[in-house]
Amino acid sequence: MKILGFVGSLRKGSYNKALMRAALELTPEDAALEVFDLEGIPPFNQDLENQPPQMVKEFKAKIKQADALLIATPEYNYSIPGVLKNAIDWASRPYGDNVFEGKPVAIMSASVGRLGGARAQYHLRQSFIFLNMYPINHPEVMLPSAQQYVDANGNLTNEETRRLIRQLLEELVRWTKKLREKP
Ligand SMILES: Cc1cc2nc3c(=O)[nH]c(=O)nc-3n(C[C@H](O)[C@H](O)[C@H](O)COP(=O)(O)O)c2cc1C
Repeated sequence: MKILGFVGSLRKGSYNKALMRAALELTPEDAALEVFDLEGIPPFNQDLENQPPQMVKEFKAKIKQADALLIATPEYNYSIPGVLKNAIDWASRPYGDNVFEGKPVAIMSASVGRLGGARAQYHLRQSFIFLNMYPINHPEVMLPSAQQYVDANGNLTNEETRRLIRQLLEELVRWTKKLREKP
């Protein structure tokens, strides 16, 4: 089973990149996680949606090939970062070629704030409705005060969060298999 991951922060020392790095180590044996770097995706322009930039073509192709998705995102101003929204907007267009259609998806967030990015997660879930995706509901992986739990090498040191990431990935794999079952 192929899982494609991407992160809503471009920051080198990103705590959300640390979550994704941990997910790479914690992926269940029957799945493979590949991470796509959103750095370099230009701002969305609907004039170009039928001939998108090369990087967008690659992003869309990777999503199409994936059985499931994993998103790690910060919360910016109580919502998701423009970088992530921009990438989602590109990949959902043109109308009729929404590559997110029917994909199971899991979310993680890390924040220096007290809610761990909860508000960004719920905004993201709102977009999943229009995109017709299947988000995993539990466990909710939200890491507050992230600066305390990521070391100088960008490793996630919080055992509880590592356990939750493993559980989230197991649920993603379980539901992806379930969704494939024929009625
Ligand atoms: C533009 C901007 C807006 C932010 N807004 C929020 C916010 O609404 N809630 C929050 O918890 N943290 C907010 N933060 C702080 C982020 O949690 C913090 O910068 C975090 O490290 C970003 O994730 P990253 O480490 O993956 O880059 C904001 C940061 C930026 C740069």
